[in-house]
Formats: sequence, C-alpha cells, structure tokens
Amino acid sequence: MNQQQLVERARQLKDNAYSPYSKFRVGAALLMKDGTVIDGVNVENVSFGATNCAERTAIFTAVAKGYKKGDFEAVAVSGDTEDFLPPCSICRQVMVEFGDPDFKVLLTNGNADVKEVTLGELVPLAFTDLDM
Ligand code: THU
Repeated sequence: MNQQQLVERARQLKDNAYSPYSKFRVGAALLMKDGTVIDGVNVENVSFGATNCAERTAIFTAVAKGYKKGDFEAVAVSGDTEDFLPPCSICRQVMVEFGDPDFKVLLTNGNADVKEVTLGELVPLAFTDLDM
C-alpha cells in the first residue's frame, strides 16, 4: 500500500470513530513492514480519562496480533482539521515504545495534504528503555 492509499484508509476510518463527547473523529491507518495495514479509531468514554486515541488503538491492536518493536513502518492519522493533526503526547510515547526513530508519521489535514515526519523528529530526546 502506498502513502496515498494509507492516508485514504485513515480518512475512511473516521466513520468508525466513537466520539460522542468531543464529536472529533480520528482515524489511524498503521502500516506494518510486512505490508499489513491495521485500523485504529478514537474510542471515547463517558469518564473521559478512559478515552483511547486512534493511534493507540491501532498500535495496541498490532501488539495483540503479535507484532514487535521494529515491525512498524508508518502511520497515517486523519481528523477533520484545517491544519495537520499532530498526535497527542501519550500516543507519541506509545509510538516510541514500538517504533524506531525512522518510523514514518504521516500528518494530514482535512484536504488530505500530507506532512511526513519521522518519529525521531516528532519526539526528539525521547525517554526510552535505554535511559533507565
Ligand atoms: N485524538 C486522537 O484520537 N488522536 C489524536 O492524535 C488527537 C486526539 C482523539 C482523542 C479524543 O477522542 C478526541 O480526539 C479529542 O481529543
């Protein structure tokens, strides 16, 4: 799947978001190095704090399927935003747990324009297991 198809998948996934509280729909399409694409959407909760972002939904699903650190190629994230939608800091830390610094993060806006950054660029000076 090429970059444009991955972004299109993330855009489609917004339809499956469960976001009755914020009304903000997010889709994340996670590309594994073996070519598999894993879906993620934000899943909100009335307690608010139990909400899971689209990116984490996709990453945790990949882990549940048996994927390991180093298997992650790219993620496209889509919301109905004017500007490029940046992943929240909790999701960035989860990305650091499983993605290498060259893991590609495709930020998109409502027009499907794409800004590609690496995880290393998105999270400079990341806290990792090497720091403990
Ligand atoms: N959200 C995501 O799913 N991903 C992001 O990158 C930003 C925020 C969700 C969480 C919540 O359901 C809603 O968007 C508003 O914060």
